Amino acid sequence: MKLRTIDGLDVRGKYVLLRDDFNVQIVDGKITDAFRIEQSMPTINALKNAGARIAIVAHLGRPKGVRNMEYSLAPVAEYMHVPLVPDCLDKDFMQDMKDGDVVLLENVRFYPGEEENDSQFAQRLADGFDLFVNDAFAVSHRAHASTVGVTEFLPSYAGKLLSYEIESLSAVMENPARPLVAIVAGSKVSTKIGVLKTLIRLADKLIIGGALGTTFNYACGAHVGNSLYEPDQKDTALEILEYGRENNCQVLIPLDKGVGDSFAADAKRTDKTFDEITDVDVILDAGALTTARDVDVIKTASTVIWNGTVGMAEWMPTWSVGSFALARAIAEETRSGKLKSVVGGGDTVAALEACGVKDDISYVSTGGGAFLEFIEGRNLPGISVLAE
Ligand code: 3PG
Repeated sequence: MKLRTIDGLDVRGKYVLLRDDFNVQIVDGKITDAFRIEQSMPTINALKNAGARIAIVAHLGRPKGVRNMEYSLAPVAEYMHVPLVPDCLDKDFMQDMKDGDVVLLENVRFYPGEEENDSQFAQRLADGFDLFVNDAFAVSHRAHASTVGVTEFLPSYAGKLLSYEIESLSAVMENPARPLVAIVAGSKVSTKIGVLKTLIRLADKLIIGGALGTTFNYACGAHVGNSLYEPDQKDTALEILEYGRENNCQVLIPLDKGVGDSFAADAKRTDKTFDEITDVDVILDAGALTTARDVDVIKTASTVIWNGTVGMAEWMPTWSVGSFALARAIAEETRSGKLKSVVGGGDTVAALEACGVKDDISYVSTGGGAFLEFIEGRNLPGISVLAE
């Protein structure tokens, strides 16, 4: 799909409504991971240097159409050193703007019209602007007023990050160097059926891990103790394993698990095979056998696509062992030039960051849900409206 981009656009003195995804983690008013903000800077700077007057529209969390200051974008404005306009529909700030100025509009999800993609709300949001730029790949799977609705009222273009995400992900999906190994983990089978099937058709090997993997182990008759898994997804899991056989994709499920005596960061760890897992054990990470096998598989790959941590990676160091081992192996192979690696999803990117290898990965997507939907080949409404 060819998109209308901002390259060569004359924006001097123009009022630009720029959609960014600043849905970042904030703890005690401080941003703990600014990756999405940093990745948005090339477009902001390009528009700024070209003399545009930029108002960034963004969301934080899911305030459900209510002005709840717990979801204020104030910490983002502070981080970026730009003024925060307290109401995204306010236009008074425009008269004081000079070429190259940037403001951030308060959380657009404070209005119900945003998620409803209400046309009147979109028109009010677009009012006063000359053009719209969408650089928020990570929210482009949502047909909201600030991703789709405003394009009815303004000439609309793709920003640099959005274009780069699409180019990078398309390249790996359309023409991957083989063997291609996909790693999908996380919690729910039900939300990942589509992506698992697409990856089975595309990949040579598919590693399934995390609580997702536990559901597959359960479906195959293993003891999974007192752990997170989806018993009602048993048939789906068996169907996916069958789909792998039909499509000549080797689907690898966990061989063992790191288990604790409770669902807690400080639970004591033991690595157990499924025969050893008892009813009170809680699975919190991949086990040593699984990790060793997965690292070996990564070493045979020419392309790796990874989404989802294989354990409670945020509970370092005890329960991050499996995820960090994968991250380090992928990073090492990529550094040595043997591997092209593509990683997406908030928790997975946080794991790369936590073990200090994010910069080694060939491509790190800012998308979570959008990354999965793009890989699955679904139409992302915020992107299709930008097609030439
Ligand atoms: C994300 O964090 O993946 C995007 O910002 C989308 O957020 P949402 O799932 O709340 O729509």
